[in-house]
Amino acid sequence: MTASTTTGGRRRGRDNGEGGMGLGTKSFSVNRELVGCIMVLDKKKAVDEAIKAASSEKDHLTSFPPFRHYDRNGLSVYFESGSGEQLSSHMKRYIQSLLKVNMEGPYGPEWSIEEKVKRREMVASEARYIFIREAPNASANEISPSEGEVTRTRWMGEGDPIVGFVQYRFAVEEEVPVVYVYELQLEPRIQGRGLGKFLMQLIELIARKNRMGAVMLTVQKANLLATNFYTNKLRYIISTISPSRVDPLIGLEKSYEILCKAFDHEARVKLEESNCIGDR
Ligand SMILES: CC(C)(COP(=O)(O)OP(=O)(O)OC[C@H]1O[C@@H](n2cnc3c(N)ncnc32)[C@H](O)[C@@H]1OP(=O)(O)O)[C@@H](O)C(=O)NCCC(=O)NCCS
Repeated sequence: MTASTTTGGRRRGRDNGEGGMGLGTKSFSVNRELVGCIMVLDKKKAVDEAIKAASSEKDHLTSFPPFRHYDRNGLSVYFESGSGEQLSSHMKRYIQSLLKVNMEGPYGPEWSIEEKVKRREMVASEARYIFIREAPNASANEISPSEGEVTRTRWMGEGDPIVGFVQYRFAVEEEVPVVYVYELQLEPRIQGRGLGKFLMQLIELIARKNRMGAVMLTVQKANLLATNFYTNKLRYIISTISPSRVDPLIGLEKSYEILCKAFDHEARVKLEESNCIGDR
């Protein structure tokens, strides 16, 4: 397995000077194996460190001041960081109700099981959030919900109304450190105004800043609008680890695809195009 240019560069200092000058062929190959092992261990250490550093940062939004608010297309909202361990009971209730409104349809009969899974994921210590709050001066008419929506997703907690959220984690996929987007959920009344695209751009910035190799996410095949949003509008592709690419027959049985956007060569090779032999 090839190592990325970045991690290869970081290792060079340690590997210097061990050359096989004057050694026989056997000890040369043993040396090479040893160097290979050290490189693999170094690589793993670098990945673990990147994940640890990214996860220990309290607020990823502080690095991107222009991305702390969104004032376009009649929407005026701002963003706030959060974590799974620190959700208030109002936030938990809000997340659950918005997930139900948006995802019960795409999941169909699988929803009752999935809802429980999502309830656990929601409070995991690794779960990071970006909450979207309506700006205090936002005109009520601009983003007024329909009657049904009011009762189903209305924010009942403190502060300006929350109208959506992103949930993501720093994770390792195929030895590549990634940002995995677990949820991107906007209330129906604020969809289709460019905010989803803006938030995914922000997630990509967070991923790059924290030395992650890619952004990944799972999408239900039945969620045609979201699939179109990610693949056609944002240029995400079906990952090599998605069931349909691992084995088309298994893919047919599964109701989801795993999508990704890679930022470096190694992530591209491992997560986007692993059968491109010429690339290795
Ligand atoms: C999917 C979702 C996150 C997209 O966010 P959004 O703010 O509605 O999308 P945007 O307005 O940023 O749209 C970006 C592009 O996708 C297109 N698009 C987005 N939603 C669309 C829709 N419902 N119908 C048609 N096109 C749509 C837009 O036309 C836009 O294209 P453009 O840049 O050429 O104008 C949002 O609609 C949502 O929360 N949906 C419900 C929950 C969900 O399915 N989440 C994804 C789970 S994986």
